[in-house]
Amino acid sequence: MTVTRLDDAEVLARAGDLAHLLTDAVRGGASVGFLAPLDDAAAAAWWTERAAAVAAGRLAVWVAHDGRRVVGTVGLSFPDKPNSRHRAELVKLMVHRGARGRGLGRALLAAAEAAAAADGVALLHLDTETGSPAERLYRSAGWTRAGVIPDYAASPDGTPRPTSLYYKHLGAAPPAA
Ligand SMILES: CC(C)(COP(=O)(O)OP(=O)(O)OC[C@H]1O[C@@H](n2cnc3c(N)ncnc32)[C@H](O)[C@@H]1OP(=O)(O)O)[C@@H](O)C(=O)NCCC(=O)NCCS
Repeated sequence: MTVTRLDDAEVLARAGDLAHLLTDAVRGGASVGFLAPLDDAAAAAWWTERAAAVAAGRLAVWVAHDGRRVVGTVGLSFPDKPNSRHRAELVKLMVHRGARGRGLGRALLAAAEAAAAADGVALLHLDTETGSPAERLYRSAGWTRAGVIPDYAASPDGTPRPTSLYYKHLGAAPPAA
């Protein structure tokens, strides 16, 4: 399995593969920003729109490839506010249901964290559905839960669900205020 970072042209070229991951995640009930049913065309359009952010350096996208097909992805979103350039948001960590439980999610997370640290990012944050398998992964990878917001996002069937907010300092912890 290889994990590679995509440039904007590669995001466009891989939009179909990335869409397949997104529709699979939604079909599996994961809270990744969409309601069911999500069709391939809408998912591919969403990824195609992301290419501009990749070109502008506001989004980084990685894919995991098993030699035959794309089986996972993760992203980092960089805020453009002047006071926020030390942080990034981890987004859209997804592994195809047929490839889960083999360490791919952990490998994608580690790749994004390592790249962020190498880029000088000091703080990562994310949100995820409370009680999801992803939450277990983040906790075991050293992320800290900052809190829970009830009814923050709807699961694909439209039911409002609680969301957990997580963060992780990279490298040295910042000085105390
Ligand atoms: C979360 C997700 C990326 C994990 O991918 P994966 O490749 O199966 O994860 P890994 O095999 O690397 O497992 C890493 C850890 O995740 C946790 N985990 C994975 N699957 C789990 C499950 N079904 N139940 C509970 N914990 C689980 C475990 O802590 C596991 O560590 P362990 O193997 O040492 O026990 C995958 O389940 C997924 O794509 N889910 C849908 C999309 C989603 O919810 N993404 C998160 C958005 S914030």
